[in-house]
Amino acid sequence: MAQINENYLKLPGSYLFSTIAKKVAEFQEKNPEREVIKMGIGDVTRPLVPAVIEAMHKAVDEMGTAEGFRGYGPEQGYDFLRNKIVENDYKGLGIEPDEIFVSDGAKSDCGNIGDIFGTDNKVAVCDPVYPVYVDTNAMAGRAGDFINEKWSDLYYMPCTAENGFMPEIPKEKVDMIYLCFPNNPTGETLTKEQLKLWVDYARENESVILFDSAYEAFITEQDVPHSIYEIDGAKEVAIEFRSFSKTAGFTGTRCAYTVVPKDLKVNGTSLNQLWNRRQCTKFNGVPYIIQRAAEAVYTEEGRKQIKENIDYYLENAKIIRESLEKAGLEVYGGINSPYVWAKTPNGINSWDFFDKLLTEAGVVTTPGSGFGPSGEGYIRFTAFSTRENTEKAMEKIAGIL
Ligand code: MLT
Repeated sequence: MAQINENYLKLPGSYLFSTIAKKVAEFQEKNPEREVIKMGIGDVTRPLVPAVIEAMHKAVDEMGTAEGFRGYGPEQGYDFLRNKIVENDYKGLGIEPDEIFVSDGAKSDCGNIGDIFGTDNKVAVCDPVYPVYVDTNAMAGRAGDFINEKWSDLYYMPCTAENGFMPEIPKEKVDMIYLCFPNNPTGETLTKEQLKLWVDYARENESVILFDSAYEAFITEQDVPHSIYEIDGAKEVAIEFRSFSKTAGFTGTRCAYTVVPKDLKVNGTSLNQLWNRRQCTKFNGVPYIIQRAAEAVYTEEGRKQIKENIDYYLENAKIIRESLEKAGLEVYGGINSPYVWAKTPNGINSWDFFDKLLTEAGVVTTPGSGFGPSGEGYIRFTAFSTRENTEKAMEKIAGIL
């Protein structure tokens, strides 16, 4: 008889954003006349920029010619894109093209990276946390059992207003550490000095840091690192995930990359080689057309156009911050991030406040507790809506608070 992976049975309910989508669909079915503004999942609304579209069209045309047609591409990504990434995103940081693995998304890479790690590793996560890190470790059997809203074998690092949303360096030895900065969901950041403490810890304890840098394009303040490799010694202890999704509007187009430095070894084994082996076996690369589109992000025009979109979202974040503050909420994030994290008023729990905002104001958010127990009492807004919807949503919320 076939056996299933029993770890899946331990997972609670459905994936956070699927649960929210289901709730919203039910609400809309029951209230078809009500307008609903989505500020839940971090999905972009601005169209792909002209430089990207132009490159994509050109690549489509190439694919229709005998000379330009491409079949399977390299599993790690085409050199033209890997070179551009290194020259632009890692200028002066000593990262080499064969340390870049182009993929179909940071979400998939953050989940799949677990394939190359042993099941006995102790895993540390921030709390609240992007649920993919937790759920994929639970699927792999590294998380133990889900008891009282927590996984028994994970090491949770609470990040709340009380500690300035800074995870505390673990008091025990942990093997894999997931860090996401600028943070999803809190929108808060670490300084270089603070990130250095993690690199030092990882070096001392032979741990590996899985650094999710998907939101680096939203950094506006000095001294906030865009890459963990800005910290000396990080190449020996860290893998970094980056994405074109939020940076360049590729959520529907799918393109991201993961950096696995050749200096990174676990017990003498190169993780770069293991990840390469994994990708060659399980992945056939990102379509040529999409990689050409991603390459255009690094042209002068592309950069300029993308910056306009990022600025647009950051302005939305400012509007959200200011409106919520005016309505009397305690607000965090949104300065170096498209996420604004707010304390719910009068101690209402996260899901109740989510329901209130949906049913009374018609605004979809993400309940903080969906990101982990320390997210209870918070709610997350994304700045990825249109300006018009952002302003409308804030007016509606002000009207019910
Ligand atoms: C989020 O809303 O947290 C993210 O958009 C989800 C994702 O990137 O997968």
